Amino acid sequence: MVQEKVIVIDFGGQYNQLVARRVRECNVYCEIYSYKTDIAQIKEMNPKGIILTGGPNSCYEDNAPSYSKELFELGIPVLGLCYGAQLMMLLLGGKVEKAPVREYGKTEVMIDTKSPLFAEVNSTTICWMSHFDYISRIAPDFNVTAHTADCPVAAAENKEKGLFAIQFHPEVLHTVEGTKILYNFVRGICGCAGTWRMDSFVENSIQEIRQKVGSGKVLCALSGGVDSSVAAVMLAKAIGDQLTCVFVDHGLLRKNEGDEVEEVFGPNGPYELHFVRVNAQERFYEKLAGVTEPEKKRKIIGEEFIRVFEEEAKKIGAVDFLVQGTIYPDVVESGLGGESAVIKSHHNVGGLPDCVDFKEIIEPLRNLFKDEVRKAGLELGIPEKLVFRQPFPGPGLGIRIIGEVTAEKVRIVQDADAIYREEIAKAGLDRIIGQYFAALTNMRSVGVMGDERTYDYAVALRAVNTVDFMTAESAEIPFAVLQTVMSRIINEVRGVNRVFYDLTSKPPGTIEFE
Ligand code: XMP
Repeated sequence: MVQEKVIVIDFGGQYNQLVARRVRECNVYCEIYSYKTDIAQIKEMNPKGIILTGGPNSCYEDNAPSYSKELFELGIPVLGLCYGAQLMMLLLGGKVEKAPVREYGKTEVMIDTKSPLFAEVNSTTICWMSHFDYISRIAPDFNVTAHTADCPVAAAENKEKGLFAIQFHPEVLHTVEGTKILYNFVRGICGCAGTWRMDSFVENSIQEIRQKVGSGKVLCALSGGVDSSVAAVMLAKAIGDQLTCVFVDHGLLRKNEGDEVEEVFGPNGPYELHFVRVNAQERFYEKLAGVTEPEKKRKIIGEEFIRVFEEEAKKIGAVDFLVQGTIYPDVVESGLGGESAVIKSHHNVGGLPDCVDFKEIIEPLRNLFKDEVRKAGLELGIPEKLVFRQPFPGPGLGIRIIGEVTAEKVRIVQDADAIYREEIAKAGLDRIIGQYFAALTNMRSVGVMGDERTYDYAVALRAVNTVDFMTAESAEIPFAVLQTVMSRIINEVRGVNRVFYDLTSKPPGTIEFE
């Protein structure tokens, strides 16, 4: 089936992935490409519509990201957002200058509701603005369709050619009617039928996998996280016992997590696959003994994981396919990634392809955003507990224990974290907060419990809200919830006499502690 699609051309805006996600919420498939993508490639994809994103530059400066003017002559509707709007105006003969007043934040916008882009939008509506430059003169054959108190051109269009420029950001939720505006563009102006649905995606993927694999043998590294679990179940439904899943329990998982994974994927679970659980806890603790430096810990855990997996893979012998749980943001980031510094060396299962004897990689989720992976998981009938599992780093609790990792410290952080998660869920916050967990600081301090002096560890609670995990704000948890968590941890977890709540945002902090 040919999937209708809209293309987002990225000019480096911080919301590029958000634009694509919002379009997909209108049931229209959407992909992101760098502004460096050749126009011939865009033409070949035959998109139903094109969206130009915002970006940090001024479009009139030398070397600012630009695009071939031919893009506006393809007969394909184009929507420019912020920088994308300014660039469209500049390339088509308008003028862009530094604005006398910088507009930032929620802004009242007066719009012309006769524009097809603003169909059924209120004539005065709140939009999210963030710009230094402004369109001081529109391009010939365009009409102004929106303005604000400070910005004479908040939107302009050439309806006949299907070209639309808007200064604000409809993709951001602060733009109250943003989704309606994007819907008007993709479903109304571009004429997309809205056929991008998770049930058909899942069904088609299962068919495709079956065809591709034939009678071949498939190997999957199962971490118990959302991505690898959804990928594994999709494969299991497609090819049953031709699939072997290897699950390495490195002893750095959350409390009971290993058993929960086994319940779903093991011999008593609903699937026919071959499930291999490797209990390698002791091996990891031995390698980590005495190691305190965060990067060294990460490297040891990553390398040991590959060694363990390699040994299991050797037992299985040559396979035809190796499954990877790559998702769309990984694809976008590796394709568009700049020169950003390595802050932490993230380890997932990146090193696996080198240690396994296989012919081809299967990545059944490479076109999906995280929320779509979850939807696919629910379609596949995976338990909600697993589908809505928190993001969990590959090195696991190893990077939530500051300093040396020991079995005793793992026990403390597992128990504290389980209490924290339980209370957050009880308070109804578990699907509201982006990521939350307990960590074990390396600090011990004096306390008093039942007239006795104690000298025990301090646990730190972390909870952040984040859109893309690149930046994050600490979450506001009701004080009463924090107090309950604190008193339960102190009473129930041996070895802890103090609990902190971490208020640090990212930057300057990171989400994890190491
Ligand atoms: P940081 O700590 O870098 O975390 O602000 C951002 C997000 O990435 C996760 N994270 C990791 N995930 N391997 C992973 O698979 C890692 O080594 C790793 N380190 C951090 C972290 O949980 C958060 O969601």
